[in-house]
Amino acid sequence: MSTKADIRTVALVTGASRGIGRAISLRLAESHDLVIVGRDEAKLSDTADSCTAAGASVQTIPVDVQDGLATAKALTGMHVDVLVNNAGVAVLKPFLDMTAEEWNRQVNVNVNALYHVTRAVLPGMVQRGRGHVCIIGSTAGRNTFVGGSCYSGTKHFVMGFAESLMLEVRDAGVGVSVITPGSVATELFPEGTNTAWMLEPENIADAVAFAVTAPPHMLVHRLEVRPLSPKRPRDSF
Ligand SMILES: NC(=O)c1ccc[n+]([C@@H]2O[C@H](COP(=O)([O-])OP(=O)(O)OC[C@H]3O[C@@H](n4cnc5c(N)ncnc54)[C@H](OP(=O)(O)O)[C@@H]3O)[C@@H](O)[C@H]2O)c1
Repeated sequence: MSTKADIRTVALVTGASRGIGRAISLRLAESHDLVIVGRDEAKLSDTADSCTAAGASVQTIPVDVQDGLATAKALTGMHVDVLVNNAGVAVLKPFLDMTAEEWNRQVNVNVNALYHVTRAVLPGMVQRGRGHVCIIGSTAGRNTFVGGSCYSGTKHFVMGFAESLMLEVRDAGVGVSVITPGSVATELFPEGTNTAWMLEPENIADAVAFAVTAPPHMLVHRLEVRPLSPKRPRDSF
């Protein structure tokens, strides 16, 4: 006989093939069934195997979230209780050195995909009167830096989008959170970057789990997570 405790809600995580999205998937696999999205099928399947080992039932969806039609076709109408919009791209270079392709890719993945993915599953949440949309922003959504004209711009968009969406859907029982990490040791940075002082992807996964498992009447809307000191490696504390 199944009890309430046996019922696992469904979390959809984009960019689950590596880095922060993989860590979020593994963390949520402890309590949720999963739909994981990314382009690299082999790596997605590797994430899926680890999530299955943690007890989750997992569906992999290889799709490029820049492609609005393909994303809508793959995700529209799917029952999703928790959506984690994590997929992101960073090309950190001065505006005058940036190609149109680099500009468009960042805007397409960091901004436009929020529309494609969220539009596909949010109506179901509103209809059911419960759900959670979590977005991985960045401290770059509040700070600026040389080389950040596009990336920082897209992450500033995330902050405005998240807060407006939160106001639009909260009365329907749907929460919207934005987690804003400082630097995290992932492949977002070029090979050779010193990542010893950075956060680990699991630290962000813990923050996401905290936000999406808060009591139903409580909303963690913004959560900024930073390395304690950029001057000291993690293992020096
Ligand atoms: N690392 C940091 O310091 C840091 C700090 C603050 C915020 N963030 C944010 O955290 C999120 C995850 O970044 P990360 O550090 O984990 O980077 P990462 O290791 O480069 O991983 C990026 C993920 O996004 C997916 N992705 C990229 N383009 C995609 C596309 N067109 N369609 C579908 N999936 C796509 C990639 O999967 P495929 O290649 O398989 O498609 C990959 O799984 C991003 O939103 C990033 O802006 C990162």
